Amino acid sequence: MTQHLATPATAPASATAPAPADWWRDAVIYQVYPRSFADANGDGMGDLAGVRSRLGYLRDLGVDAVWLSPFYASPQSDAGYDVADYRAVDPMFGDLPDADALIADAHRLGLRIIVDLVPNHCSDQHPWFQRALREGPGSPLRGRFHFRPGKGADGELPPNDWESIFGGPAWTRTTDPDGTPGEWYLHLFAPEQPDFNWDDPAVADEFRSILRFWLDLGVDGFRIDVAHGLVKAPGLPDIGHGDQIRLLGNAVLPFFDQDGVHQVYREWRRILDEYSGGPGGHRIGVAEAWTPTVERTALYLRRDELHQAFNFQYLQADWRAEELREVIDRSLAAMRPVDAPATWVLSNHDVVRHRTRLGGEGEDGLRRARAATLLMLALPGSAYLYQGEELGLPEVLELPDEARQDPAFRRSRAGGDAEGQDGMRDGCRVPLPWSGSAPPYGFGPDPESPTWLPQPADWAAYTVEAQTGDPTSTLEFYRSALAVRRRHPALGAGDAVEWLPAPEGVLAFRRTAPDGTVLTCTANTGAETVLIDAPGRLLLASAEADAPAEGAFPLARDTTAWWTS
Ligand code: NOJ
Repeated sequence: MTQHLATPATAPASATAPAPADWWRDAVIYQVYPRSFADANGDGMGDLAGVRSRLGYLRDLGVDAVWLSPFYASPQSDAGYDVADYRAVDPMFGDLPDADALIADAHRLGLRIIVDLVPNHCSDQHPWFQRALREGPGSPLRGRFHFRPGKGADGELPPNDWESIFGGPAWTRTTDPDGTPGEWYLHLFAPEQPDFNWDDPAVADEFRSILRFWLDLGVDGFRIDVAHGLVKAPGLPDIGHGDQIRLLGNAVLPFFDQDGVHQVYREWRRILDEYSGGPGGHRIGVAEAWTPTVERTALYLRRDELHQAFNFQYLQADWRAEELREVIDRSLAAMRPVDAPATWVLSNHDVVRHRTRLGGEGEDGLRRARAATLLMLALPGSAYLYQGEELGLPEVLELPDEARQDPAFRRSRAGGDAEGQDGMRDGCRVPLPWSGSAPPYGFGPDPESPTWLPQPADWAAYTVEAQTGDPTSTLEFYRSALAVRRRHPALGAGDAVEWLPAPEGVLAFRRTAPDGTVLTCTANTGAETVLIDAPGRLLLASAEADAPAEGAFPLARDTTAWWTS
């Protein structure tokens, strides 16, 4: 696949240019999944020193900020989303001085660092939970979690009918210190992830302190895991039906999106604001909130709450002009009353990579993925990229069962019920290929050391090394798109798009910067080439473009183009 690049790729924007305090409003934020990004110590598992060694790559790619998935002390029952110590780095990722050095280096390069915060649940190895188990019923430590006696004659049934998002009941029965079966505890995710009880003031106190700990270390913000789950409906009522399992779905449920969560974020906003003065600009909170509608998501972004929330409605949209236009309009309209930027995301560590999701397994998927990315980067607001999408990586569909580590996969297999589970989260978490022609493709220093998930044997063409300097590569395409986005004032900023008339299957909209500069984006989601009137000078296209014929431009299938006038 080639791309039409009418404007040469520019050098990366100056890393030292001062950024405005509200840098996050149009930031491109790159998600690093630390265990799969780069391995510095050669154990086949990515680490913080590995991330640090590749910060130059991220700066040159042209992103503004890096969000790191959890690297805290954890038994890794859910790849670090089960935290045993919120103030320590897990030895497999390094130590606190590594985190400190990573933040300092990133700042020197002009990159901001957002860390993951996991406040809905901790690890069952967290000292509070261990003490709660040891001390037995009645212990004040039990009040920090949701412990309940079971139902049935001997308490042998779970306290309510809630199901874990990873499959099976959301309750596990404990054994009392004397060896008899005891109370049950709630875990919306794996049994190794007990939910905190946010009605207990000790929990809120602890998280205020954890926020300050990382802010004092210099982080620029937090991505808040399961931000919609902290508060449960009073009395933990039954749902009454079994159709609950939605891996990060958006049904109305008594454990998600309860109004009480907003009080937590109002308090956190005050802390973030305390740290937001000075040259670093604002410290931000980003909600991972799966809510039934974008309007409910906007509630997390009121002026005294968080700054951004992932737009999962956009992520879930098909590659169809009509559907995309609807979700774009609805998202922008929902954000306007709260004056929050819209955010856009196509891939992350929980979903099938957008190349495969939108376009299946072949090269067509890549073509569509590039078109989808260019469309996303033209929208007003902030965009999230997931590591490896800039290399055009597909989802790895052929992982051997014994290699898979996603608890959702294991639990659905154990329960014999694969229905309703995606069971696919390992396929987007395969370690990145950096160089060379065989696994581990430069992921770590030791060519003999296997990566924690096996990499496909045919990934040589996807490495950073293979793609660098090749103007047709997906990596150079991302670099060009991000460079244009940085220097083009009509991109990112603002809160509206001006739709233009377009043939069926095509999206066309204009963005006008305050200085009058105009950028037009045209995206053909259909299966055929469509002739459009060229709306200016072609800046960048996601796929090769034929020469214009008498003013008409043939916009090929699954292609997005940016124009300036
Ligand atoms: C959302 C995270 O993105 C996912 O990876 C994790 O399994 C759940 N929250 C539970 O923490």
